[in-house]
Amino acid sequence: MENLHKLKEEYKKKYADKKLVFGEGDENTTVLLVGEAPGGEEEKLGRPFVGKAGKNLDEFITLAGLERKDLYITNVVKYRPTKLSPKTGKPVNRTPDSKEIEDFKPLLKEEISSVNPKVVVTLGNVPLKAVTDNNKITIGDCHGSVLECNGIKIFPLYHPASIIYNRSLADTYKEDVLKLKEYLNK
Ligand code: URA
Repeated sequence: MENLHKLKEEYKKKYADKKLVFGEGDENTTVLLVGEAPGGEEEKLGRPFVGKAGKNLDEFITLAGLERKDLYITNVVKYRPTKLSPKTGKPVNRTPDSKEIEDFKPLLKEEISSVNPKVVVTLGNVPLKAVTDNNKITIGDCHGSVLECNGIKIFPLYHPASIIYNRSLADTYKEDVLKLKEYLNK
């Protein structure tokens, strides 16, 4: 935890112009969840997964037989990536780019090694690619099963926000979560 603490301080200095949202939760957990990057609500409150995607995440946590307080929840990129909406001229969320992902990988890796969970649950493609260090892997090919990569067990799930936009994924997502529950109870 000492190294993680130091590294966070370095990132705070490097990104002094940004509001960073760090991981939170039980550092002795068996389950570490990784999302993509904070959205507007997360940036405002300084906590991961507290907006709309957080509501879906809470449903998933309950379905998996878990409680939020018993997990460690983080994101690959720790600030909110935005672009200006051509319609309104206001900042809207965007997917982090590869430079942002690379810049934040050392912090994510330190979080994973400090917490040393039984399983890292990746939510969507961005964390799956970042944790496996493999840009070719995609969630459609490996969701709902355990991957082993660099000595870390990874359980890839779709991003909870993707089921807001694609309802047909909802059933697959639920099946995957139940498989995770089974794996955790083994
Ligand atoms: N989506 C994410 O990936 N992370 C958050 O913290 C919120 C929404």
